[in-house]
Amino acid sequence: MNLSETKIFLDQTWRLLAQNEEASFESPILKSNDPRNVKTALGNEFPTTNISFENVLKEFELQILPFLNRNTDARFGAYITGSGNRVSALAEFIKAFFNQNGLKWNNSPIASELEQLVIKWIAEFVKLPEFSKGILTSGGSMSNLMGMHFALAKRFPEREMVGFYDQQPFTVYCSNQTHSSVDRAMVFLGLGRNHLRKIDVNDRFEIDVSQLKKSIETDLSNGFKPLMVIGNAGTTNTGSIDDLKALADVAKEFDLWYHVDGAYGLPASRLARLKEKFEGIEQADSVIINPHKWMYVTFEASCVLLKEIPHAINFSPDYLFTEDPGLRWESSEHTIELSKEFRALKIWFTMKYYGAEQLTSFVSQDIDMIDYLARLLADYPKVEIEPEHPLSILCFRWNDPNLTSEENETINIEAVRSIESKGNIFITGTKLRGSTYLRVYYGNPERTRENVEEMVLEIKNVFNELTEAVA
Ligand SMILES: Cc1ncc(COP(=O)(O)O)c(C=O)c1O
Repeated sequence: MNLSETKIFLDQTWRLLAQNEEASFESPILKSNDPRNVKTALGNEFPTTNISFENVLKEFELQILPFLNRNTDARFGAYITGSGNRVSALAEFIKAFFNQNGLKWNNSPIASELEQLVIKWIAEFVKLPEFSKGILTSGGSMSNLMGMHFALAKRFPEREMVGFYDQQPFTVYCSNQTHSSVDRAMVFLGLGRNHLRKIDVNDRFEIDVSQLKKSIETDLSNGFKPLMVIGNAGTTNTGSIDDLKALADVAKEFDLWYHVDGAYGLPASRLARLKEKFEGIEQADSVIINPHKWMYVTFEASCVLLKEIPHAINFSPDYLFTEDPGLRWESSEHTIELSKEFRALKIWFTMKYYGAEQLTSFVSQDIDMIDYLARLLADYPKVEIEPEHPLSILCFRWNDPNLTSEENETINIEAVRSIESKGNIFITGTKLRGSTYLRVYYGNPERTRENVEEMVLEIKNVFNELTEAVA
């Protein structure tokens, strides 16, 4: 494809996207809930010979475009899926156009330098300038894994050569609301899930610090080796924020690595009304944040922030040798990845274009919209709203006192299913204190109060249909 063809194809692609964008506001945002429909549309024809770009685009329009969920739409409130932003999308195109690979500094000097710059900006954005080092990763799960890896590297550098041979197990501490990526990291790091201590939480879903201390003491007396404590700065279920100061004290008292998962919630620390909730985070050894969540950058973009990066890998193969005057930053010396996409570019574009103040106002607006959603739902006496929603997540459930708890539970489970199958809005479910709740996440600055009102109407209709069925 030469340059003039590229321009023509770019125009054609843009026309299709713009046309689809306009039409999409009228159609469901969830495009299918049945894998068979998607598989059938995709077909299975192996591409043996070349076809024109027009035909590829036509096939894309027929086979793929109809199944692209409208994650960027204000009707989307599922998981913690940020809306992204179009500036970031354009940066993705530029990135791919230049096909940079940050595997070594000399292979893409700007990828390496820009990564370090945006890491400093992210640290400054969340008012933690001392965390000026770090690594951009694909997502919060990878960032949590890296934080735990660095904890091990610092505490037990021998691991590089001998693994865990002949060691008493290391134990890791976090609340039972901590993201499951920590459980998975226990598996991937060979620490074992049996050695993850999930501490109970209080009514606000914040870790019980006295139970945490007891658990560490018990482990110590039983010969385990406490490694690290993980705090939450915005849990996935409710957005709860642990007492990060108290956790810092515990980490200090027992000489543990202190890691804070702020994958979702950390940008809210910029808001004056929430700043205090995040106090203590500055004492952490590692902190994570996902620009692809509440900084509105397109997927994938996460970041581990550190004050110092412990060296865990002290070797390099011959084919990666470069003469280095000691000034070059090689991110691949610290991670499992060698080839590395130029993630920093879309973060740079987003932060430049919007600036910290506007990004902060978006975060504030998402929280206001969730508060508005809670106020609207409060008009329905049989809808019980979880009072703890410090950030932009709201959990609620149908709870009719005239029904049994099993009947209410069935309605909530069915409501999640029904909302997904209708596809007019997309929200998901979770469990709090053993009961099923519907759960809404807001992370889209384009959302209006009318969008929230429409979402409430859809939820109300679904509950009405189901409760009439029960009656
Ligand atoms: C608090 C928290 N940590 C980690 C993750 C994992 O992030 P990712 O999906 O980017 O791997 C999530 C995802 O929602 C999260 O909410």
